[in-house]
Amino acid sequence: MIINLKSVALAMTSICLFAQCTPTPTSEASYDVIPMPQSITLTESSEPFVLHSGTQISYTAGNADMERNAQFLKDYLAPQLGYELKTVPGIASKGIVLQLVDGEATEGYKITVDANRVLVEATSPAGIFYGIQTIRKSLPVEQGAVVALPAGTITDAPRFDYRGAHLDVCRHFYPVDSIKTYIDMLALHNMNKFHWHLTEDQGWRIEIKQFPKLTEIGSVRNGTMIRKDWDSNDSIQYGGFYTQDECREIVKYAADRYITVIPEIDMPGHMVAAVTAYPELGCTGGPYSVRTIWGVSEELLCAGNDKVYDFVEKVLDEVMDIFPSKDIHIGGDECPKTEWEKCPKCQKKIKELGLKKDKQFTAEQKLQAYFTKHVDEYLTKHGRNAIGWDEILEGGVSENATVMSWRGEVGGIEAARLKHRVIMTPNTYCYFDYYQSKDRDNEPFAIGGFLPASHVYSYEPLPASLTPEEQSYIWGVQCNVWTEYIPTFSQVQYMILPRGAALAEVQWSQPEVKNYEKFKNERLPRLIKIYELNNYNYCKRIYTDKEEPSDLNVGW
Ligand code: ACM
Ligand code: ZN
Repeated sequence: MIINLKSVALAMTSICLFAQCTPTPTSEASYDVIPMPQSITLTESSEPFVLHSGTQISYTAGNADMERNAQFLKDYLAPQLGYELKTVPGIASKGIVLQLVDGEATEGYKITVDANRVLVEATSPAGIFYGIQTIRKSLPVEQGAVVALPAGTITDAPRFDYRGAHLDVCRHFYPVDSIKTYIDMLALHNMNKFHWHLTEDQGWRIEIKQFPKLTEIGSVRNGTMIRKDWDSNDSIQYGGFYTQDECREIVKYAADRYITVIPEIDMPGHMVAAVTAYPELGCTGGPYSVRTIWGVSEELLCAGNDKVYDFVEKVLDEVMDIFPSKDIHIGGDECPKTEWEKCPKCQKKIKELGLKKDKQFTAEQKLQAYFTKHVDEYLTKHGRNAIGWDEILEGGVSENATVMSWRGEVGGIEAARLKHRVIMTPNTYCYFDYYQSKDRDNEPFAIGGFLPASHVYSYEPLPASLTPEEQSYIWGVQCNVWTEYIPTFSQVQYMILPRGAALAEVQWSQPEVKNYEKFKNERLPRLIKIYELNNYNYCKRIYTDKEEPSDLNVGW
């Protein structure tokens, strides 16, 4: 008898197909990801789902966000597992299934795993996206892996609606591709707000068409001080800015990843670059020069000059046109009033407005409050909300403003009591420009402080001194990355990783599921594999330094 090998092979393939022949798993997924999900229930008696190169990703058809979500999952897994999964529109009975379900849109999601499917359900594409993040983080980094996903259910939703990360691109400038990578890093940590600090004393970094000198002159400084030697200057011209098209490209890139870009135009202080370009906007008329040293300048916008209000409104018109974010950050921090005290225009304005010193505030502080109110009202009139640093509480806080508490939590507590929305970014837990180790000599030079990942992890953003009703004003939490001493994007990554992972559990996870030992010893090592896959530079001190309670009085 002649055996036809071809038909035997064919017959075997069809048996295999019929029996849903699945390859033998080489590894197992773990749903203990960062940030730790709200609830994970495994059904150990049931067969796992086996993910392999033939697995398909299906998704709710006719929805561009869902199509993009499926593509994201495919793109995340291709380098991680070494193969490309096929994406198909429509809800399949097998494979990974991304399904929108009816209900009020939230960022929550549910993943149900059985032998046939990994079903991700959410009421919004953003919720599906976070389910996708959980899937990618639950899988190993292993070329050609066949992964068993244990049967069970994951139900998850964020603790806070505002989960932010800030980046100062003024003290040092990073190109568009780096900003996109930063946004990718935020998405990996389930963050949804990118606070882009675009203007400073040391450089104006956003093109404003009505005021071209802001970037022609204001984006360039004639050197940079060396470390903390205030009298030094490296004499190297330093500059850079983003065109409006580039800003729009970033907004779209972030929005595709369910991240809102909140631009910051810091005013009336931190404006030396602007007054260098347009000296008539300052109290003295200049001349000014884009600052080459760090620290706080006494050179502010003149709050007694009508032209300044016109300038601010025109700048904000362009900013609002580029950034659809409902929230626009208007700074307000670190405004010494020395010049305003001497400026005839500012003093005339104080008189006209009848601002008087009282036990709490000086007339000049009240002038800043007037300025902030004016800008806040302008934004409100255009359907936007102002966010300001906690100094905006001084002199009476503007009606609609959200307060970003950075000098510890005091400002946030006061604002919540005044029924203002609060974002907690206390320097004591959230300033990622601080050192991650006390072994400063073997760390990249930093501004000071000491903020190890363990201390970030320990942060509880709802102050116990507030009532539950007052706590409800705490909108969320953010890390700030000031870049005086962070000249490269690789160093930005080093400063944010893995502290950003610790923060992600503060922002997203419920306190009951947080556990620092498990975070450090089980979850983070697996997330680090994804950092390494993406060539993200990260700090290893969490594993090499002795754990010690943080001592934030280490000094600058
Ligand atoms: C700040 O750190 N000056 C807000
Ligand atoms: Zn003035």
